[in-house]
Amino acid sequence: MQHLLKDSDLNKAQIEALIALGKAVKADPKKYSQALAGKSVVTLFEKPSLRTRVTFDIGIAKLGGHSVYLDQQNGALGKRESVKDFAANLSRWCDAIVARVFDHQTLVELAEHGTVPVVNSLCNLYHPCQGLADFMTIAEHYDDLSKVKLAYLGDGNNVSHSLLLLGATLGTDVTLICPKGHGPDTQIFLQAQALAAKSGATIHISDDVADIEGFNVAYTDTWVSMGDNTPMEQVKDLFMPYQINQALLDRTGIQHVLHCQPAHRELEITSQVMDGPASLIMDEAENRMHIQNAVLLTLLGGKSRGTNLNHDTFIESSSNHHGEK
Ligand code: CP
Ligand code: NVA
Repeated sequence: MQHLLKDSDLNKAQIEALIALGKAVKADPKKYSQALAGKSVVTLFEKPSLRTRVTFDIGIAKLGGHSVYLDQQNGALGKRESVKDFAANLSRWCDAIVARVFDHQTLVELAEHGTVPVVNSLCNLYHPCQGLADFMTIAEHYDDLSKVKLAYLGDGNNVSHSLLLLGATLGTDVTLICPKGHGPDTQIFLQAQALAAKSGATIHISDDVADIEGFNVAYTDTWVSMGDNTPMEQVKDLFMPYQINQALLDRTGIQHVLHCQPAHRELEITSQVMDGPASLIMDEAENRMHIQNAVLLTLLGGKSRGTNLNHDTFIESSSNHHGEK
């Protein structure tokens, strides 16, 4: 693993190792406080962000590293200068690039033309940092992820794709409940089915909310993602039956609720649920920082020692690791 561009870059052992390292960083942050000393990470954003921007910035500082934020004032990548030149320049100064972009292809080009690891912090197709934080959060409540049944309700978007691919790899049953015409990308769904065939997971799409009785965890996200100019009013009535509310929890027996945020209260989720006892939503937001730190430790720690994803080596050596490039 040299980059994290999409969820399917990771196999089951790698996802489990990242979750274990995320939990270790969360439990004992002091142990990792100098792990990225001397390392600089560029975080660049073509789209707005609260959680991703702040969790990377503060997370990198907690590892002793330094982050440089490039905001939307630079406009879409490739306008002022080519993505190729952008990547080549950044690679001369920084140790990793974290990028939130409109088009997944921009990440592919950054990775192709740069010489440092690239991390996808959301694109049109995937949100792997979010998906990893979500499974870390679920793993804090369920010992065996292959026994969890996760229902995603709403729009078949980037977040739903990451959940599908990670769940299918881990052996978690994932059902997407989406209105007709708003399901996931067909190729990504087929890819998830192929991964599920190996892991033993059941992957399912439906437009019927009744299909999630007996599930453990329900997840939702905005009905209109960044970059989609559809007015919420235009789709609100179509999506309203997919809202996560108390009646749904009571009817299905779902015990835990996740939402990547930003949330639209009383649309895809009610305040009663978001602020209620089933909600793991703020743990999930906190875990973004810990799992992203695990990703950076893995990519940068592994690179400096010429090994990839060797968490055990990293954990053992982190106390005297000085982060040479
Ligand atoms: N969940 C998430 O990525 O939030 P932001 O868009 O605020 O970064
Ligand atoms: N699907 C949402 C996720 C926001 C974190 C979007 O892309 O806007």
